[in-house]
Amino acid sequence: MDFITIAKKRCSIRSYTEQKVEPEKLEKILEAAHVAPTAANRQPVRLIAVQSKEGLAKISKAADIYGAPLAILVCADHSRAWVRPFDKKQTGDIDASILTDHMMLQATELGLGSVWVCYFKPDVLSCEFNLPANMEPVNILAIGYAAEDYADPERHSETRIPLNELVSYESL
Ligand SMILES: Cc1cc2nc3c(=O)[nH]c(=O)nc-3n(C[C@H](O)[C@H](O)[C@H](O)COP(=O)(O)O)c2cc1C
Repeated sequence: MDFITIAKKRCSIRSYTEQKVEPEKLEKILEAAHVAPTAANRQPVRLIAVQSKEGLAKISKAADIYGAPLAILVCADHSRAWVRPFDKKQTGDIDASILTDHMMLQATELGLGSVWVCYFKPDVLSCEFNLPANMEPVNILAIGYAAEDYADPERHSETRIPLNELVSYESL
């Protein structure tokens, strides 16, 4: 599959079978995260891959992951993230989200469904996973085999704003 085919095919899956994600597929997903860029190559992101019943139950206290057999908790380390000197904007969340997107698209290429989850109780996650104060849970990526139909890869003309509204040239 070429890149745009994968990008169009990806959709949020909110129902999963019980089939586990094979270790070699998980390895590829994590490798996609590993090669992702981060600001100034500071790599201020840590991933917690959760597949055990106990671990998934801990995540479920904070978020709905729709029964996915694998969840990757993407955390930004705010003590390592790059800070833009002009306005002190810190890029930890951006870095965490680039890794998340790489993993999500790699999962699609491997025939896996996924959904990006931000609707979670961060304090509960931090407590359940004993995260230090500098480590913020930014995203959860739930992954598994879809138990529902994939959305139409050609849906975006209806589900996204028009390209000419998204993009302008030379000025806003
Ligand atoms: C930053 C971010 C946060 C999201 N959080 C959630 C979430 O907490 N729960 C959920 O079911 N979907 C969540 N989604 C999925 C979006 O709702 C979904 O990507 C969007 O509606 C477009 O649909 P599609 O992914 O099927 O193309 C999130 C997506 C992004 C990018």
